[in-house]
Amino acid sequence: MEFPFLGFGVGLRTTHYNDILDTHPAVDWFEVISENFMVAGGRPLHILEQVRSRYPIALHGVSLSIGSTDPLNLDYLRQLKQLAQRFEPAWISDHLCWAGVGGHNAHDLLPLPYTPEVLAHVVERVRRVQDVLGRRILLENVSTYLEYQHSTMPEWEFLTQVAEQADCGILLDVNNIFVNAFNHGLSAEQYLHAIPVERVQQFHLAGHSDKGTFLHDTHDHPVCDAVWDLYAQAVQRFGRVSTLIEWDDHIPPFAVVHAEALRAQAIAESVHHADPPPDAAAFLEADHRA
Ligand SMILES: [Fe+2]
Repeated sequence: MEFPFLGFGVGLRTTHYNDILDTHPAVDWFEVISENFMVAGGRPLHILEQVRSRYPIALHGVSLSIGSTDPLNLDYLRQLKQLAQRFEPAWISDHLCWAGVGGHNAHDLLPLPYTPEVLAHVVERVRRVQDVLGRRILLENVSTYLEYQHSTMPEWEFLTQVAEQADCGILLDVNNIFVNAFNHGLSAEQYLHAIPVERVQQFHLAGHSDKGTFLHDTHDHPVCDAVWDLYAQAVQRFGRVSTLIEWDDHIPPFAVVHAEALRAQAIAESVHHADPPPDAAAFLEADHRA
């Protein structure tokens, strides 16, 4: 499984539109919330056209609800496919969760019980989603605040089995691993080392809030030092993986978020300083064949 390496990007947010379109900052790529652009026309699509003319993008959804027992929303998938055909994202991602049932959208990314039955249910749905979209997707590990007594396997095994059996990729949110490790008394290092290297095609990084007895995944802070340390371990294990900074509340000026992406780049390059950049490697290989 090989998705392109896009470098170190930032989540596209409306508060930054003017800054991005006026100054064309030297950020590597943007992640775009799919549902914000599943509209008939108007300003959002016009903005995205301009962004896409200068930057690679990936589409990141929040409404797939892959674990729900509701039927897959084929209308949603058709709209998503149309959006992808128009903007040609490097990939499409969503979350390993459920987001509603009985036609009700909870507007939240809710945890699943990690059982063989749920695994089979999710795997079958991921395969169908990939058939409809005509491409592999990435699924992201979500932050959670409860666990089910029904679960028979750890979160990392469930995530791995979904990816392996459905043949999809993993968007590994390093902050979510850190949050869940604290909230559920898990080992973040054990989590990282249980995930198959070849499946991980993107990292997320974000800030969380320390509520004392639990960590809340608020995306309203800079990335904390402990998560940067975990990111360095992730880069060590998984290699050169496209990385993205998420910031969704109390959003600072674009340069502040971009600085977080540049910090990720500096860490990745300090871990893999001996590797040539991917473009150079491709060039050298082509030159050798000639
Ligand atoms: Fe995330």
